Amino acid sequence: MAPTQYTKITLAERPKEGITDTTFKREVVPFDLKPGQGQILVKALYASIDPAMRGWLNDARSYLPPVKIGEVMRALVLAEVIETGPGSKFTKGDIVSGVFGWTEYGVHNDSAAEKIQTQPGVEYLDYLGPLGATGLTAYFGLLEVGKIKAGETLVVSGAAGATGSVVCQIGKKLGAKVYAIAGSQDKCDWLEKDLGVEKAFNYKSPTFHADFRQAVGYLDVYFDNVGGDILNFMLTRLKMKARIVLCGAISDYNTSKPKGLSAYTNLISQRAKIEGFVVFDYAKRYPEALRDLSAWAKDGSLKRRFHVVKGLDNAPEALKILFSGGNTGKL
Ligand SMILES: NC(=O)c1ccc[n+]([C@@H]2O[C@H](COP(=O)([O-])OP(=O)(O)OC[C@H]3O[C@@H](n4cnc5c(N)ncnc54)[C@H](OP(=O)(O)O)[C@@H]3O)[C@@H](O)[C@H]2O)c1
Repeated sequence: MAPTQYTKITLAERPKEGITDTTFKREVVPFDLKPGQGQILVKALYASIDPAMRGWLNDARSYLPPVKIGEVMRALVLAEVIETGPGSKFTKGDIVSGVFGWTEYGVHNDSAAEKIQTQPGVEYLDYLGPLGATGLTAYFGLLEVGKIKAGETLVVSGAAGATGSVVCQIGKKLGAKVYAIAGSQDKCDWLEKDLGVEKAFNYKSPTFHADFRQAVGYLDVYFDNVGGDILNFMLTRLKMKARIVLCGAISDYNTSKPKGLSAYTNLISQRAKIEGFVVFDYAKRYPEALRDLSAWAKDGSLKRRFHVVKGLDNAPEALKILFSGGNTGKL
């Protein structure tokens, strides 16, 4: 039976720095949703919580337009089709993914949804993590931007997160020596014991810089998820012709005044390269990455963890977790 009302979470104001209790607004609205021609009515099951969402709150030029004030917060969502409009290609009960946002229910055009084809050994949540945007980001960032080769030294920051944990594992599979950087001893233990990296460093340790210099020395590829001080330090650790993959800079997302990089001239002396990318650039090539990622997920060699926060009402609090490092694996 259709509900009489449903909940959605909209953007109330643009945060100046971190997300606050007044950034988002919870709205309970009457249920008046009906799919039209070629449309579906979906019920949300899981929403992906991504650092990029913080960027979408800023009124600034980026690869996607900002979320408007009053609009449902943008998010990639796994949902169940509960009703189809005339001529829809979907069937009631299909599980689909799409940018449906923080709302319990929504009506969308067929073209905005993609059916999830389940495979043995793979669970639905994998399509928001290793077989979704973060897995694809890890794959194309490391192979196409980092151009990692067997025997090279790879360093990964944000290593216990959704993207970083996949980067570490692909690096190992390709024969690189992988060093990880993360924000707690528990995360470092997981990276060393379960994911098999050579060594993991807690960047909050007072001996981080000395430990890193001693154990790693210099690097060929740095996959950067965090920016800021760690990126600046890695600029002093480059081998000749090193590549820095600029995937993300979460340490700077909550500040209007990023510190900047004082060590960038090492790029000149080491003839090194720093290159940003956005995963969507590789959209045409997703199938080739998904062949590898699915095979590794199915044979169990791609380890993954999920951090699930229950309840749409808790989505704004969940977004803050990314900035306090409360998640291991995909949030
Ligand atoms: N370029 C692209 O197309 C693309 C696509 C997807 C994601 N990204 C970027 O990739 C990065 C990782 O995204 P994700 O979804 O995989 O998130 P995630 O790594 O699962 O979660 C974010 C992690 O960042 C770490 N962190 C937070 N504040 C930090 C700080 N000040 N200094 C150092 N580390 C900090 C935390 O771990 P610790 O406990 O280790 O601090 C936290 O768990 C983000 O920067 C994101 O924007 C880029």
